[in-house]
Amino acid sequence: MGNKHSSSVVPHQSREQRVGVNINHNHSTPVSHISLKYHKSQTSLSKISSYDTLSCEKPSAPPHNHNPNVTHLYPTLTTYTPLTPSISRQDAEARAYSAFLKSFPEYQSTWILDTLRRTDFARLDRTGETYVDYMGGAQYPESLVRVHSAFLTEAVMGNTHSVSNSSKLSSRYADEARDTVLSFFRAPPGYTVVFTANATAALKLVGEAYPFKSNSDYVLGADSHNSVHGIREYASRRGAEVHYIPSTSTGGFVLSTAKDILSQHRPQNASSLFALTGLSNISNAKNSLSIIGFASSLGYHTLLDAAALAPSSVISLSETPVDAMVVSFYKMFGYPTGVGALIVKESFLEILERPWFAGGTVDVVQDGTINFMTLPAVTDGLRFLSVYLPFLPLRLSCLTHYLVTSLSRLRHDSTGTPVVNILSKLPSRRLKSVGEQGDSGSTISLIFLSASCMCNPGGAASLLGIQDQTKQLYPGVTLKDFERVVGRELGVVRISLGLGSNFQDVWKVMMFASSLADSRTRQALWETWTNVPIGQAI
Ligand SMILES: Cc1ncc(COP(=O)(O)O)c(C=O)c1O
Repeated sequence: MGNKHSSSVVPHQSREQRVGVNINHNHSTPVSHISLKYHKSQTSLSKISSYDTLSCEKPSAPPHNHNPNVTHLYPTLTTYTPLTPSISRQDAEARAYSAFLKSFPEYQSTWILDTLRRTDFARLDRTGETYVDYMGGAQYPESLVRVHSAFLTEAVMGNTHSVSNSSKLSSRYADEARDTVLSFFRAPPGYTVVFTANATAALKLVGEAYPFKSNSDYVLGADSHNSVHGIREYASRRGAEVHYIPSTSTGGFVLSTAKDILSQHRPQNASSLFALTGLSNISNAKNSLSIIGFASSLGYHTLLDAAALAPSSVISLSETPVDAMVVSFYKMFGYPTGVGALIVKESFLEILERPWFAGGTVDVVQDGTINFMTLPAVTDGLRFLSVYLPFLPLRLSCLTHYLVTSLSRLRHDSTGTPVVNILSKLPSRRLKSVGEQGDSGSTISLIFLSASCMCNPGGAASLLGIQDQTKQLYPGVTLKDFERVVGRELGVVRISLGLGSNFQDVWKVMMFASSLADSRTRQALWETWTNVPIGQAI
């Protein structure tokens, strides 16, 4: 299951029934199911059935898309091996894998994640689903669900607000989950955890309760999630000024620009808030966490949106003592959904002014009853992730580099022009060993044929080069209206890798992308898509 905010292709059979596509089952499909984030350009992947007609990349042709840096960075990298009628799909995949390992021998240090894929994520291979929407939501490990289900079968849990044995048990598990969250993020004394429904709810909690006044400032990056932008409304309503740090053309911001803006609006007589996005969910840009210390030294309160960063990066609150940080646990280990957290300094919590509640204990600050039934799974999920997290950056670095390079070299059979234009931040260096951390994530935002939009309008605007036109936006504007202003269709396709990803997944993405290089397949996809009612996934 993926995030409902993303667009995933539905299972094979129902898709055929719903759109009435006649699929030739004599050929196995190179990509039968694929889950990535895209909206408007929904296409029937099942229609890409004759893998022996896929067009080939032309490695000898000089790349002439918008990202020459890709091949410049990795000129000798062995990339995707095209299929030919004489090579079976399995052979091609095996050859591609062995070429990949030659180029990325360090990938083998992450073999523990291959074991995980065969056990906890075996359903990905059983179902044939190619899941590449980890930014939308992680896949849950089967063992986590089994352990939690066994626990629930035996435990008698009650509402933490009551006074009873069952209530005491729930409180004990809630406290254990809080302690585990704090130790996972290496929080020094003075931090506490407020469980929320998700990262958005945690950000809203800060937004509505932060003591913005007429001479306060709210500073944030343009490349932020909607829920970070949303705090702007609380700030403006209370008379605070809002200042944006502009995004670069590949997302994130320039550190010196951020420092200048923060310095210009340095807090004088009122509380001011700086919100930092650790990793952008669309542009793939990581911002340096060092800016937190700088903002604090100027007198700002600091808020870190770690929803996208936490699933694949080690975050230490001892090293980055931000006032408050938000996460969603389903993004980190897939299960449970509906639980997030505000990890917050107690001193910061004290200055928050709930509109309908003044002060109180951490338990009471929450909106009603916490999701107490699932908190033991949060504890187990964090313990699970802490074992595998160290291996993840290296593995994702190998897979992302391979995919970026291979995609950038793909050419249309008819014109020799690029099949994709990668818009997101490219990783600037390859990680070489377990324990290293990258300066970008494992998300690739690109344009294939047409596109759609996502929940990070600032990031999307900068990637699409339309930051200036966003100034013409007005309340109630529709996407269609805005496309008229810009003069073209807007949006991007997002591929994001995570804990369960392996070489097979990126190879299948390449199979899909290379099928779009073939004019006959493209035509077939187009005809299918134009026959599907608007808004329906196929
Ligand atoms: C960077 C970032 N912040 C915040 C959120 C909001 O998370 P949620 O939808 O779980 O509240 C997301 C979700 O994708 C995100 O990527």
